[in-house]
Formats: sequence, structure tokens, C-alpha cells
Amino acid sequence: MTLSRRELLRMAAGGLVLAPLTAACSGIVVSGGANVETESSAGALLRSKAKLPAPFTLPFRVPPVLRPARSDGDTDYYEITQRAAQVEILPGLRTEVWGYNGIFPGPTIVSRRGRRTVVRHRNELPVPVVVHLHGGRTPPESDGYPTDLVKASGGTKEYAYPLDQPAATLWYHDHRMDFTGPQVYRGLAGLHLHHDDEEEALPLPRGDRDVPLMITDRAFDEDGSFSYPSVDPSLQGKPGVTGDFMSGVLGDCVLVNGVPWPVMEVTAARYRFRVLNASNARRYLLALDPPPPDGAAFTQIGSDQGLLAAPVGHDELQIAQAERFDVIVDFSRYPIGTQVTLRNKLGKDGTGDVMRFIVARRGSDDSRIPDRLADIRPLSRSDAVAEREFTFERGGAEHDGVTLWTVNGTPFSPDTIAATPRLGTVELWKLRAQNVPHPIHIHLAPFQVLDPGPYAGGWKDTVDLRSGDQAEVLVKFDGYRGKYVFHCHNLEHEDMMMMANFDVR
Ligand code: C2O
Ligand code: CU
Ligand code: CU
Repeated sequence: MTLSRRELLRMAAGGLVLAPLTAACSGIVVSGGANVETESSAGALLRSKAKLPAPFTLPFRVPPVLRPARSDGDTDYYEITQRAAQVEILPGLRTEVWGYNGIFPGPTIVSRRGRRTVVRHRNELPVPVVVHLHGGRTPPESDGYPTDLVKASGGTKEYAYPLDQPAATLWYHDHRMDFTGPQVYRGLAGLHLHHDDEEEALPLPRGDRDVPLMITDRAFDEDGSFSYPSVDPSLQGKPGVTGDFMSGVLGDCVLVNGVPWPVMEVTAARYRFRVLNASNARRYLLALDPPPPDGAAFTQIGSDQGLLAAPVGHDELQIAQAERFDVIVDFSRYPIGTQVTLRNKLGKDGTGDVMRFIVARRGSDDSRIPDRLADIRPLSRSDAVAEREFTFERGGAEHDGVTLWTVNGTPFSPDTIAATPRLGTVELWKLRAQNVPHPIHIHLAPFQVLDPGPYAGGWKDTVDLRSGDQAEVLVKFDGYRGKYVFHCHNLEHEDMMMMANFDVR
């Protein structure tokens, strides 16, 4: 994590853009240099050396749905091999991805409440991996604890997911201690869509009008490879990123489902989009351009952990890393032929664009957005049996002369337990963010945000905090006893120790 002269020279030779060192030291967004972008995300911008495609020229696609290798009375069994593969992301160039089954995003797993999902992972990558189902209520032995490694070059592990939880947009991704940022960046992320009877009974858009949008940002080297400022790009030695990127790695190319700024033809009808921000460090403020002539651009029907009690209209969607928004967009409000661009109002130049829809044709639509979506019992302060406070900031610990990102001043260690909630109880956690934005994620236990504002309603597993923000969340510890982590989902912060344990007893 220290920037030695040798590393500096190597980076310069590799063509990475360097920002003023002061920015990295103060832990704020780089400003005043070639990297100036926006203060909305913690991180420094890495610029691509490769030629990026013009926005809205590449066709939109959806990751393939994985078929079970076999099924029995109550379980579907899947097999995934994690391996390196050469894929075409930028036209005419090859990018090596580390992917689930060699693709990025990985294949989508579709499950249903009442059936267990078992996924057997085989790791053919040269590094150890860990698989975490983000948003899953999973027993500790299958949750992907950061040191619960699947060995490099041939290791296997079977992850068992009871998935006794409401329908929701979940995702799975790498969680190897100290190396989650680079391993997710290389491609280890996929969607897991979970269904149940209550959701199925609603007249929401379905089939090819129920569409996941996994949004990521990346930067590319001249030859098309992903560029990422690892101290040790083999990911086998020293962890961490070079000095300027301590606050986060921001790419200059926005990809949806692995395609740079894709274009999608749609019918003039309602669509359900499951929006996931799977970026390492970038936050987005999404808007439609042009906005629809009447009504809200997006009708939110679901959050991280499933359906909302009732739909909520938004003209813009603010989405931090790892958050999910299930929204309905009604394209029948636009004349046929309209090009509707999904923009990111926190971005600049290329990162201000996400994708484009072309309203191509008329079509019938028997979907509807009901006024009531799900039964959600609102928790209240009086449900909490304990209160805890956690501050996420830079400071309190150093390593090799670098000030680390910490929780209550303590760097992550598998042996330190920060909280011991009792199974079946609700606790009030006060989460505070300092220096820069920190999206905070709690494994296993879903929570409700007190005074949620426009974007944090419903059951959540990740809450977006801007610098200086505090959120009070009511966390429900249900399901399983054992040791789990909670952490910042800025993956560079997470790798640089902004993570802690709780042990459900
Ligand atoms: Cu999505 Cu612990 O992570
Ligand atoms: Cu998680
Ligand atoms: Cu953070």
C-alpha cells in the first residue's frame, strides 16, 4: 500500500494516471488534477488507454440463466467453475476476465422460496476465492466468510442456501479477504433472482419484460485488459492498491451487464428493471433523458431485500454500491421511435451516460402496478433490545505507513467480535460515515432504516451514507447463529480493513 519508487515507475510505465498524492493522504476525492471528476463517490478516476466504443452502439444483453445440474424433491443443484477467459468487451479487443463459468457477469441463478439452492464451485483461478451471496440469509458455513477460502487451481466448495426469505434481487460475488476489490473488478459477480408465491401473484411485468441491469464501471489498458491499480497484480502477494486509489477505484467506462453503454430496443409497455450497482467505488444518480411527459420516471417496487409495502415514484434514483432498486418504467408514455437515455447525473463525460432505450414498437401490456405490494411490518425503536454505534472512517490504524479505513477505529481481524446480538432479537445500530461516502452492508440480518428518506424504504441490507451522515437502522437477527461480517461496500475500503464481525448467539 506504500507507493515505492519502483511501483511508481511501474505504474507510470503502465500508463496509469497519477493524481496529486495529497488527495490520497487526506482520503478525499481527488481534485485539482487530471483526475477531477465529482465529489459524489470516494475514489480516484482511472482513465482507459484503450479506445472505448461510442456510447449506445453495442447491443444490450442479459446474462444467461444457469440450469441446475440436477434437482430433487426440495433442492436444485448447480455447478460453477471459476476460470479465466478471453472475452470481447471492447470491439476488436480481448479482455481477460475472471468469471463464474468464464463469463462476466456470471450466469444468473433463479430460485424460489421453499426450495434450497446448492452451488458447487470449482476454482480454476490462480488465487483463492470466496463466494458470498449478497442479501442471502445463509448459515455461516455457506456465507462466504472472508477467510473461508476455496483453494486456488482446483479447490472446490459446496455452498448451501436455504433461501427461506422473500422474493428479492440478490447477487453473488467474491469475498476473499484483502482481495475482494480486484477479484470482483476482474469479473467475479453475478445475479441471483429469488422468487416467491406472493410476488408471483402480483400483475407485474414478467418474462422478457423483467430485466436485470448490473451496472459497473471499469477502465481498460491499451490491449483491452482491465486496468486496476493493485500493488501486486498477481493478487498472490501484498494486498492493496497504489496510493492514489486508497479511497476507491473509479473507471471511465460504464457497463451494463458487462456491455459498455449498451442500447436496448423496448416495446412501448411497462418493464421491470432490477437495478444493481455492482461497481467497486462509484455511486450513481440515475435519470431518464428525456423524462416521461407525465408521472415519475421510475416507480420503485422493491429494495435490497424484496418488495416494498407500496410503490414509490422517483424522478431520479440514487444508488450506492451493492444496493438494488426494483423499478417499473412505462415506455408507453413515449412516442414510438423515442430514444430514452439512462443518465448518471453524478458522472461527467462518459460516466454521465449509462445506457439507452429505443422505444421500437407498440405491444400489448396486461401488467399493472398494484397499490399494495407486500406485507411489511414496520419496526420501531421500541422493538430494539440493544443499541450499538459504529463509525466508519479513515484512521485509528496504520499499516506500512498507510492510514487504514476502520470501524470504530479498529481494522478488520477475524478474531475481533464487535457485537454479539442474540438470535431472534432486533437491535438499533447507529451507523456513522466520516471523510467520504460509505455504503454499509450487514450480512445475514436485514434491517429497516429509521427516517429512511426517499431511497432507503423497505427491508435493506446496504445503506448509503454520505460523509457526515448517520443512519439509525433496526436490524433483525433471525435465522442462524454464528459469526458474520458487516463492512463498507466500497471494495477498496473493505480490502483496506473497513470491516468487522458480529456473532449471533
Ligand atoms: Cu456484497 Cu460482504 O458483501
Ligand atoms: Cu452480503
Ligand atoms: Cu467506505
